[in-house]
Amino acid sequence: LFWSGLLLLGSGSCWDWLPETDANRTLDTNFTFTLPSEVIPRDGLSPSRQRLLQKTDFQLYNYITTGYDPQKVQRAVVMLHGLGRDAWGYWDQGYVALLNATARRETQSNSSSIRTGGVGGGEGGRPRLRADEVVIMAPLFLNQEDSGCFPVDEEGNPTSNALVWNRADWAEGADSIFPNSIYDDDDKTNFTAPPVSSFEALDAVVGFFSDRSRFPRMNTIIIAGHSLGAQMAQRYALIGAVPSRSVSVHFVVANPGSFAYLSDWRPRSVQDCPETYNNWKFGLAIYSQRYLSDFISKSLDTSNNISSVIDRYRKRAVSYLFGLLDSSPGDMRCEAKAQGLTHLSRGRNFIAHLDQLEGGFPSTHTVNFIPNVSHDGLGMFTSKAGLERLFYINLDGTESPSAVGDDD
Ligand SMILES: *[C@@H]1O[C@H](CO)[C@@H](O)[C@H](O)[C@H]1NC(C)=O
Ligand SMILES: *[C@@H]1O[C@H](CO)[C@@H](O)[C@H](O)[C@H]1NC(C)=O
Ligand SMILES: *[C@@H]1O[C@H](CO)[C@@H](O)[C@H](O)[C@H]1NC(C)=O
Ligand SMILES: *[C@@H]1O[C@H](CO)[C@@H](O)[C@H](O)[C@H]1NC(C)=O
Ligand SMILES: *[C@@H]1O[C@H](CO)[C@@H](O)[C@H](O)[C@H]1NC(C)=O
Ligand SMILES: *[C@@H]1O[C@H](CO)[C@@H](O)[C@H](O)[C@H]1NC(C)=O
Ligand SMILES: *[C@@H]1O[C@H](CO)[C@@H](O)[C@H](O)[C@H]1NC(C)=O
Repeated sequence: LFWSGLLLLGSGSCWDWLPETDANRTLDTNFTFTLPSEVIPRDGLSPSRQRLLQKTDFQLYNYITTGYDPQKVQRAVVMLHGLGRDAWGYWDQGYVALLNATARRETQSNSSSIRTGGVGGGEGGRPRLRADEVVIMAPLFLNQEDSGCFPVDEEGNPTSNALVWNRADWAEGADSIFPNSIYDDDDKTNFTAPPVSSFEALDAVVGFFSDRSRFPRMNTIIIAGHSLGAQMAQRYALIGAVPSRSVSVHFVVANPGSFAYLSDWRPRSVQDCPETYNNWKFGLAIYSQRYLSDFISKSLDTSNNISSVIDRYRKRAVSYLFGLLDSSPGDMRCEAKAQGLTHLSRGRNFIAHLDQLEGGFPSTHTVNFIPNVSHDGLGMFTSKAGLERLFYINLDGTESPSAVGDDD
């Protein structure tokens, strides 16, 4: 709440320390992944350096449930922070909502498309969700202003492979700026590190939680965000590889400041930005990120076949939540204003956009308008619909995954 006030005025924030591990959440600086071999640069790199990069670990800092038992976990709730990068605060929001969800009596999940309304099921049953069946992870997309949170030498050069992005670019899948060099032990020199997309980092998170050899009972992964985190969730749902194999993945998009639209239609005038209003991150007209799931590389970038990307998005499980009091403007650039003047009106307009698509509003998407809540992540996630989307969807684990994995 404190930060959202400041950030709406456009002021930045920076962190030089991170809250320590406590009884509930753990600061995990050791979540690592390697790059998929197809994105390892070939040009100008010797085969031995290509091999070195294939086994180079990159770290995505995060907060995660302290002492979770992978044998018991059935659901991973990934909370994406906002512009302020306070991942610990978003972990806490998820945890408060979890405590709330486990105290409630509703017993029935309702995963069908509902335009308004709340949680299914009646009162009186015993709670079916137990806190130890859920692991919450809040990834931390560091930026250059957070130097000190990631280790640096006296000149300020990073000394680890902790991933750091430029400003707020992580929310649209952009490439990392740090680490900027990798040490080659063979010839004792540094060479330029390959960039890592924030969506490659999310792919690693999805891959981690969907691995049934690690989490034998896992059945649902929720990728949830509020504000700039919601922008990331929507854009990842649109172009992400989501390599989840047999585990259902749901996206929860709460009060984003803008969307990636699926056509060049806009509800408001684009006369001040006619060349840019539909470019990524606001649309798919010019897609400028390096991040390429196999799917995107086979469709969008080679043939600019937007229709295949849209078809897949329409099959993904995406829930939109909009606070009925969220009349704050957020992003006031022309490209965002073309989508509406407040968070709430941008939400309503995007739903109208989906309604107008060929085939109408996607059957795997849902939308809820949350009474009495403004630009407030905790209020959104602890609302009835918020609890339903984070914790009760696919509670019985019988749902078939829809449009996940990178092969569809
Ligand atoms: C951890 O969560 C419990 C509720 O389960 C709460 O009572 C306690 O204060 C929390 N501890 C910390 C350090 O936040
Ligand atoms: C980091 O993870 C690796 C691989 O899982 C493990 O071997 C190592 O002990 C971990 N380090 C810390 C400090 O937790
Ligand atoms: C859950 O949240 C609702 C509304 O935010 C609140 O009224 C209720 O007291 C909460 N219950 C628990 C157990 O946290
Ligand atoms: C739950 O879904 C069914 C359709 O499967 C629908 O008829 C019903 O109204 C939904 N319940 C709520 C509370 O939304
Ligand atoms: C490689 O880079 C690291 C981090 O910037 C620096 O500390 C180290 O001195 C460099 N090593 C060489 C051989 O240039
Ligand atoms: C574009 O993708 C759609 C949906 O997958 C497909 O039906 C169509 O044939 C593709 N068009 C081209 C030109 O590849
Ligand atoms: C909104 O909040 C007010 C004051 O807290 C309360 O009286 C009212 O019932 C709430 N309305 C809804 C729809 O929750």
